[in-house]
Amino acid sequence: MKGLILSGGKGTRLRPITFTSAKQLVPVANKPVLYYGIEAIRDAGIKDIGVVVGDTREEVKAALGDGSAFGVRVTYIEQEAPLGLAHAVLISEEFLGKDCFVMYLGDNLILGGVKELAKEFKRDKPNAQILLAKVPNPNQFGVAELEHGKVVRLVEKPEKPMSDLALVGVYMFDHNIFEAVKNIKPSARGELEITDAIQYLIDHGYKVHPHMVNGWWKDTGKLDDMLEANRMVLDSLEHRIDGHVDSISKVEFKVVIEKGAEVINSTVRGPAIIGPGARIVNSFIGPFTSIDKNVQVLGSEVEHSIILEGSVITEVDRRIEDSLIGRNVEVGKSPLKPTAYRFMLGDNSKVGLL
Ligand code: DAU
Repeated sequence: MKGLILSGGKGTRLRPITFTSAKQLVPVANKPVLYYGIEAIRDAGIKDIGVVVGDTREEVKAALGDGSAFGVRVTYIEQEAPLGLAHAVLISEEFLGKDCFVMYLGDNLILGGVKELAKEFKRDKPNAQILLAKVPNPNQFGVAELEHGKVVRLVEKPEKPMSDLALVGVYMFDHNIFEAVKNIKPSARGELEITDAIQYLIDHGYKVHPHMVNGWWKDTGKLDDMLEANRMVLDSLEHRIDGHVDSISKVEFKVVIEKGAEVINSTVRGPAIIGPGARIVNSFIGPFTSIDKNVQVLGSEVEHSIILEGSVITEVDRRIEDSLIGRNVEVGKSPLKPTAYRFMLGDNSKVGLL
């Protein structure tokens, strides 16, 4: 069995962060989302992984290399434009050959991995296995209709969903999927849809097995989903303090403080993670916060937020909450007169003032 991770596409819903960075590389608990996918596939015993890349190819290649750091072999597959998930399969035929494969959307996170699913697929040998989960907003996903436990219909982001069963971004296929992706037409949004390819399999008598996901999973394409994914992963971390915490600071509940991080005259209340080289001084870091490497939080309070590499938060009066702050951002009190807010914000930034 091989793996195929989709890491192309455009991260429009996480702009401005994704103007400069691939959405699959935005970190959750200080680790890029994409790494969780690679590790899940590796832990299912799969060593050969194709990674589909687009505009952000250089960044993705720099992050994964040849895969050896993860114990896998990575082959990059270039997609000239985000022409759809089924298009990504189509261009991967040479890499996949006749092997069965697990296809994993690079912005999805499944707690508990895919080991059991791969086992079930190998045992039952259907032509395709899809993962389904009940969601409150099915119109934002591919939606499945079941009859007597069998998949009869799949529709991509229907206006009027026929059920609340969303397609989760992990699929298993045998080589018959190539016949399907070669015989479908682009959808109204101009993409070759994987839902249409799977519908083709159903309509042509191939076996498509549904598998209900009862554990937690998330498509991390939007801010709220990123924060939720961050909560879930932080909650599963083990308490570990490798950095320096001075004697007057308090570290409460589950907290990871990486080597080279410093906590001075501050309280860190977990679940939270403080990355290498970060400095927390005269500050409060509240639950469900990820502070990435070389971030400084000085005289400020941050809770339920993700702060990326190299940013500096200085003397902010009110607590920062529910926020995703990009790389090398500066947020702070300005001593300059006249007294005024001074911004330099990228396109599509969001600022909530008191
Ligand atoms: O998250 C689950 C949902 O993922 C499913 O319910 C939908 O049926 C499925 O179509 C997909 O919907 P999204 O709108 O969330 O897909 P998105 O465009 O975000 O792409 C998913 C991943 O695949 C993402 O990491 C980018 C990558 N991608 C996407 C396209 C369209 C590619 O590598 N190439 C592409 O052409």
